[in-house]
Amino acid sequence: MMEIRRVLYFVVILSLIMTSLIPNNANGDVINGKTQRMIYKANKEGPYLGLVIPNLFEMNPLLHHPSFQPTNLTIDFAGRRFRFGTIYEEKVILVMTGLAMLNAGVTTQLLLSLFNIKGVLHYGIAGNANPSLNIGDVTIPEYWSHTALWNWQRYGDGPENELALEGNGDYTREIGHLRFANYTTNNVVSDNLLNRVWYQPEEIFEIDGTPEQRQHAFWVPVDSNYFELSKKLEGMELEKCINSTTCLSDTPIVRRVSRGTSGSIFLDNSAYRSFLHDKFHVSPVDMESAAVALICHQQKVPFITFRSLSDLAGGGSAQSNEAEIFAPLAANNSVAVVVGFVEILASLNSKSSS
Ligand SMILES: *[C@@H]1O[C@H](CO)[C@@H](O)[C@H](O)[C@H]1NC(C)=O
Ligand SMILES: *[C@@H]1O[C@H](CO)[C@@H](O)[C@H](O)[C@H]1NC(C)=O
Ligand SMILES: *[C@@H]1O[C@H](CO)[C@@H](O)[C@H](O)[C@H]1NC(C)=O
Ligand SMILES: *[C@@H]1O[C@H](CO)[C@@H](O)[C@H](O)[C@H]1NC(C)=O
Repeated sequence: MMEIRRVLYFVVILSLIMTSLIPNNANGDVINGKTQRMIYKANKEGPYLGLVIPNLFEMNPLLHHPSFQPTNLTIDFAGRRFRFGTIYEEKVILVMTGLAMLNAGVTTQLLLSLFNIKGVLHYGIAGNANPSLNIGDVTIPEYWSHTALWNWQRYGDGPENELALEGNGDYTREIGHLRFANYTTNNVVSDNLLNRVWYQPEEIFEIDGTPEQRQHAFWVPVDSNYFELSKKLEGMELEKCINSTTCLSDTPIVRRVSRGTSGSIFLDNSAYRSFLHDKFHVSPVDMESAAVALICHQQKVPFITFRSLSDLAGGGSAQSNEAEIFAPLAANNSVAVVVGFVEILASLNSKSSS
């Protein structure tokens, strides 16, 4: 009996050793030994600031910015490329997420799980829902929310009716709703089979909480220290012209604002833009920031977002979306602001170390 156990034990150990030697192609993304060593080595040089960037269009101006000094190190993992370098002697890792919430969340989590990160700076372009701001302005919201997680109410029910699964705490009527019938174009008070969608907070699982025990979050604050420091960026000079003949009518400014919102929806619709602004008092509207915010919030890593306004999210002229003309200018302005912010952090570091 003892003998059989010993043999079985031996077989188990041997098979464990064998599987650890076989290249891990089963799910494609188990970290291989070479990558693991590169990550380990890179982390010994940390901590880093993580710069999370939606796409190449917004990353390229940073790669070409004179203050960005790349090192020759890049680490590719799970379809993402982590690029190493410095900005004003601050060690940074740049990573591009790709479009929308899922990509932004996954990439931010990879960044935080793989690397020694002291803070996350997110930047890019956005739509503008705030009529008092202009194209080209760079916003720094204090709070972010994800406004595309909905409970879509059945036809016939109203605000007084409990939502499906509201009873066990899965959904809530606390945040509010959009009523489709309010958007009929003929000005007749009417009814609509699409009824209402109710906005829902995100389920979150905090790094220091009990695993599998959910909490809820809707408005996620950026790091209060970063937000305070970002005040110094107001008054910064920004680019106004895309070439020698085409300029914005107002000189762009950096503005701290109270709120921004995200969802995996490209917003080019004036009525919904007004709804978002009136109901949630948001300025920038984008497709990634809230995902970055929700991950950093759960992982307790300081973060802040800089979003430059490239279009009016449907609120401009009826013919076109302004993004096509002004997006390159907006992307450059967002880079100028994030670089300015790193400069502020770097100056604090050199003060505290001298
Ligand atoms: C944006 O910056 C790049 C350099 O990084 C420059 O080549 C380009 O002309 C700028 N575009 C605009 C619209 O300012
Ligand atoms: C980076 O370049 C230096 C000098 O050329 C070299 O010693 C080092 O091994 C390189 N690092 C990587 C990760 O390629
Ligand atoms: C719909 O319109 C009515 C009447 O104007 C207004 O009282 C109500 O607040 C609107 N509801 C929503 C959810 O927009
Ligand atoms: C400047 O940009 C506008 C918009 O893209 C374009 O119509 C115009 O021809 C450009 N002017 C010059 C001098 O390049």
